[in-house]
Amino acid sequence: MTAASRTPIVAGNWKMNLDRSGGTALAAAVAGRRGDAAGVDLVLCPPAVYLVPVAEAVARAGGDVAVGGQNACDKGSGAFTGEIAPQMLLDVGCRYVILGHSERRTLYGETDAGVNAKAKAALAAGLVPIVCVGETLEEREAGRTDAVVSQQIRGSLAGLDAAALEKTVVAYEPVWAIGTGKVATPEQAQEVHALIRGLLAGLASPATAAKVRVQYGGSVKPDNAADLAACPDIDGALVGGASLKADDFLAIARAFAAAGVA
Ligand code: PGA
Repeated sequence: MTAASRTPIVAGNWKMNLDRSGGTALAAAVAGRRGDAAGVDLVLCPPAVYLVPVAEAVARAGGDVAVGGQNACDKGSGAFTGEIAPQMLLDVGCRYVILGHSERRTLYGETDAGVNAKAKAALAAGLVPIVCVGETLEEREAGRTDAVVSQQIRGSLAGLDAAALEKTVVAYEPVWAIGTGKVATPEQAQEVHALIRGLLAGLASPATAAKVRVQYGGSVKPDNAADLAACPDIDGALVGGASLKADDFLAIARAFAAAGVA
């Protein structure tokens, strides 16, 4: 199976940005022009309090655009103040949830074991987890990229069977490229994406690995998306800053649509 036979997936990670009116306007704009990027799965991940109005705005605009959370608890319900269960995300219309984003790992102490528990809970609830991995600049400069990403993949995806892995989306996001304007070169990204696909083959089988979509994230913009999309193991993008503008987000999605049919 080649990149052309995996449906590209472009997700917007809005992080802690926009308010209700800005978020719903952005969602409506993306959904209304969704046809521009036919053949690419599109996902919008607003702050949790705006999931419902964003999902409603998407539905009103009639576009096939999915909504996802930026984090979830590994528990189903109970005394976990401030947490949101995967089932609750599903209940308000989410199909996806980002897990283990580098900001969660660095700022909130998330570990591979914790991400693994969350991924299992999300899958059990029927959500698609977007599991993030990626090395810091210090780790890359020390020649440890492969070791760090391997450990994150093995730890975060431990115990998932082939069926679970096939549903899961992996996002490779080098920490040094996130929000810095320093995008990985297509060669740097492809090298790690190929490593990740090899690791997935080891966890399950080459056939399973060939079905898993692996996104690149880190300063993806309209002007660098086409080169990334052309790489054989890059199946989409997890977009932060550029996802806050409908034109930019859709331009990135179009780049993956064009690569998908090439
Ligand atoms: P960025 O963020 O596109 O602003 O670099 C990507 C991410 O953090 O997912």
